Amino acid sequence: MTDNAARPETDQPIINIVGEKVALGPIHRGVLPLYLRWFNDPEYARTTGGLGSGLRPMTREVLEGAFDHAARATDEAHYVIYERATLRPIGGTDLTEITGRTATFAIGIGEKDCWGKGYGTEVTRLMLDYGFKILGLHNIMLTVHGHNARGIRAYLRAGFRIIGRRRQVVYREGQLHDLIYMECLATEFPNTSPSVIALDHVQVAAPANCDAEARAFYGDVLGLAEIPKPANLRARGGVWFRCGAQELHVGVQGDFRPATKSHPALAVYDLAGLRRRLAERNVPIVEGEPLDGAERFYLADPFGNRIELLERPAG
Ligand SMILES: CC(C)(COP(=O)(O)OP(=O)(O)OC[C@H]1O[C@@H](n2cnc3c(N)ncnc32)[C@H](O)[C@@H]1OP(=O)(O)O)[C@@H](O)C(=O)NCCC(=O)NCCS
Repeated sequence: MTDNAARPETDQPIINIVGEKVALGPIHRGVLPLYLRWFNDPEYARTTGGLGSGLRPMTREVLEGAFDHAARATDEAHYVIYERATLRPIGGTDLTEITGRTATFAIGIGEKDCWGKGYGTEVTRLMLDYGFKILGLHNIMLTVHGHNARGIRAYLRAGFRIIGRRRQVVYREGQLHDLIYMECLATEFPNTSPSVIALDHVQVAAPANCDAEARAFYGDVLGLAEIPKPANLRARGGVWFRCGAQELHVGVQGDFRPATKSHPALAVYDLAGLRRRLAERNVPIVEGEPLDGAERFYLADPFGNRIELLERPAG
């Protein structure tokens, strides 16, 4: 099958949605040979597919089956992405699992010369606009591989926010990557002005040569998973940890003095169990006043910094 076979049935494809750089039109059988080429391109498959897919060859039969389903599904909306200037089909995008006021967004630009030109960001904005204004959706979500920096950047720019991550579930090139969950609400779209959207990380200061003690306390006692520091920051010392969707950085401060008032508050599952573990290791704690029903206590890290640990009631 050649790319000629992928030409739309008419010279002018049907277009439903027009942006500045891209246009979107209904999926049709004519683009399937292109999809087959894209899905079998290792560079494309590197950042696409479910947890296990994207690793095996895509066959024409499977693709045609998926097309037959997609073309008829009443809870899905599938578009071909066209480069607006040339009307060349360059990828696909969809909203699936459209139930009530929610849906799941996906995108794939198969023509690699079109990556990094702002097309993905614009498609994402157009699909959010379509989902919220035309379909009346309220919450649109997506998942993206943690190593897909280009995609994450495009989705953030379009209005999505990171809401969590499932750790070490995507296997690519010998490594396990996180699956990132993102969402956008109708009431938050379009995000036209710069704004602070979430806490990215907190930094706790520590004296020089703190790494071993930091690992023993934040890693072994509190149970946080260490994440590698970027190579350019490694020489300074200090250790970074994942803390839910955020990070906790222990950083070296030359004239270190412990922070005894300002502090990070770490959300805990099974505070009672953690309390027992701390008692077994003779780590002293200081009880805190209840806060909106949350249970909490304080302790000092090995460097004297105040740390709050709290568990909020579910719901
Ligand atoms: C992911 C994808 C949709 C993004 O679309 P795109 O058109 O390439 O992205 P855009 O040009 O709109 O935006 C990319 C952003 O990432 C940045 N970027 C580009 N290359 C990057 C890289 N290698 N690492 C980190 N950031 C990168 C760009 O600077 C831009 O950010 P900016 O607007 O702040 O400058 C597209 O590349 C794609 O389909 N890739 C293959 C399949 C895939 O990954 N699909 C998504 C599965 S969730």
